[in-house]
Amino acid sequence: MMKLKFCMRFMLLLIATIAVINPARAFHDKGAADCSMCHTMHNSENGMPVNPTPDNNYLLVVSSATDLCLSCHQSDNGSVWAQNPVNPAPQLGSGNFIFGGAPNINDSPNGNLVPLTGSHGIHNCVAPSRNSGPDPVHMAAPGGAYPSSELSCTSCHDPHGNENYRMLRGVGNVPAGNFNFMYPAPEAEGLTLSGQAESITLHTAYKSGWSNWCANCHGYYHEHAQDLFEHPVNDAIEGEYRLAYERYAGSGNPIGGNAFESYIPELPFEDVSMTTTTSSGPTPLSRIACITCHRAHGSSATDLGRWDFRELNIRQDGHISGSYPLPSPYITQASERQLCVKCHEPQVRQHGLTKACIECHRFGTLSEPGGPIDQFKKP
Ligand code: HEC
Ligand code: HEC
Ligand code: HEC
Ligand code: HEC
Ligand code: HEC
Ligand code: HEC
Ligand code: HEC
Repeated sequence: MMKLKFCMRFMLLLIATIAVINPARAFHDKGAADCSMCHTMHNSENGMPVNPTPDNNYLLVVSSATDLCLSCHQSDNGSVWAQNPVNPAPQLGSGNFIFGGAPNINDSPNGNLVPLTGSHGIHNCVAPSRNSGPDPVHMAAPGGAYPSSELSCTSCHDPHGNENYRMLRGVGNVPAGNFNFMYPAPEAEGLTLSGQAESITLHTAYKSGWSNWCANCHGYYHEHAQDLFEHPVNDAIEGEYRLAYERYAGSGNPIGGNAFESYIPELPFEDVSMTTTTSSGPTPLSRIACITCHRAHGSSATDLGRWDFRELNIRQDGHISGSYPLPSPYITQASERQLCVKCHEPQVRQHGLTKACIECHRFGTLSEPGGPIDQFKKP
């Protein structure tokens, strides 16, 4: 143990020295970034920096890991917490934490009477400098045990960098929360952080492992009646659903769409052959995953929705709550139903025309008693 500690101290010093020699070194490069950008070197013993431990707050240069990340990622390098809840930074895939500051994101029919703050739309990372506390509703990850009070950028990303997509954590220990991940990091290809926003012609290519990765903290949420809304979360997309996805090109053209131009980033699926420019619909290898319906950081809709699950017409997103309107992929018609329709079109041609799907496809009582959508029976 002593030996290991000494080794780490020496490494801190050594790498800090290398970084001075080579300041242009790319950041987060497998831990080769200048340690002193994030760890304080003042608190030293015999000229050696003290080992970062939880007891000394890992000798971070600011009060929390999340604040540290935001010193470079708030408005730059991906802008994950910018600018204003009704004027977010360009969408790169994960969504944005800025929506956490919205006073109301509830676009249910009576959402103006039952406001739900933006905390319901994001993974609430604790960041004292942004006045952002833990989620007020969930003590832990729904379906799992990860403590909300420890949720930080480093719950999901490895600050020291690794080989994984977006430096996401894989199997093993997560220092924040002292938690263990069972499943590896997911495979994907992403957009350039300083480049164009997501579009139908350029988008994250989700390849594999996305449901398992979220399941590190949530289990297979929605399966086995774990939730009020029951749905497969890691299944192949069978033929009839693939066909529906391919043909659906919006409410004005529900069955006449071109299969080769049917992909929309608002309703992605994972597929090992996916690329950032894929525009065709699902293949027999395509799978439904958590990211089909959710964003990883958050959105201006409840439950980190890629679209707002609570409204009948997604073309009117934000009209009731005043929150940022999530752009609809289909803009030629005034009205567009829940994007669930893209996979379920033949089944819902005749039903569910007057309400959002989850108003009926959810049973029991809601987590917000007296809330907008309460007391529905399972169909
Ligand atoms: C981008 C910021 C950043 C840089 C650069 C950085 N660290 Fe860290 N480090 C952290 C954070 C944040 C933690 C706290 C643990 C966590 O939240 O994952 C940490 C924790 C640690 C720990 C204890 C826990 C662990 O993960 O093993 C050690 C040891 C450590 N850092 C060493 C280093 C060394 C050596 C360097 C330079 C090669 C370095 N760090 C560079 C952000 C950074
Ligand atoms: C001193 C500035 C700095 C700090 C502090 C910092 N980063 Fe970064 N980060 C960067 C830069 C620069 C890039 C590369 C930007 C680019 O590709 O355009 C980057 C890239 C990333 C990426 C994308 C990597 C990829 O493969 O696409 C992630 C994710 C990330 N950082 C997360 C974090 C997290 C989490 C923290 C806090 C532990 C953190 N960063 C702290 C500067 C920083
Ligand atoms: C490191 C653990 C962790 C991982 C990984 C994780 N989550 Fe979470 N998630 C949490 C915690 C803790 C909460 C409760 C705190 C909160 O809502 O901010 C939560 C809350 C949520 C919520 C409810 C938000 C609300 O306020 O009602 C959704 C939806 C969600 N997560 C989806 C996902 C999806 C999708 C993924 C994969 C892309 C994922 N999570 C990965 C820990 C995690
Ligand atoms: C619950 C897990 C989780 C947390 C917490 C989290 N991230 Fe991420 N982050 C992801 C995932 C997953 C992606 C890839 C999403 C995609 O491509 O759809 C990502 C993507 C990114 C990117 C790439 C740009 C983008 O918008 O897609 C950056 C930069 C980043 N995260 C930084 C951060 C910072 C900074 C924090 C803390 C404020 C943070 N993340 C907190 C899971 C998380
Ligand atoms: C087919 C779309 C879809 C998929 C796939 C999906 N979700 Fe959801 N998720 C929803 C909807 C819709 C809601 C809102 C349900 C409600 O209001 O009752 C939701 C709500 C949630 C919540 C919030 C629960 C709360 O109490 O606030 C969590 C957590 C969550 N999902 C996690 C996940 C995870 C983890 C996965 C993958 C294992 C996943 N979801 C896959 C559509 C989906
Ligand atoms: C990517 C395509 C896809 C999306 C998007 C999708 N589903 Fe599904 N859904 C499926 C598949 C595949 C099944 C499983 C069918 C089976 O097992 O026969 C399913 C099953 C269902 C079932 C059970 C049907 C039955 O016969 O038991 C319901 C209800 C349902 N989905 C509603 C929704 C709702 C509501 C949404 C939007 C929040 C949604 N789905 C989004 C593909 C999708
Ligand atoms: C007004 C309530 C209501 C709404 C709104 C609603 N549904 Fe349903 N749905 C039902 C009921 C009831 C059934 C069971 C019908 C049966 O078994 O004959 C059902 C059945 C289904 C099935 C299974 C059909 C089959 O043939 O096996 C799917 C899939 C489905 N709904 C999806 C959706 C989607 C997607 C939406 C939103 C676009 C939606 N529903 C909106 C009440 C509703």
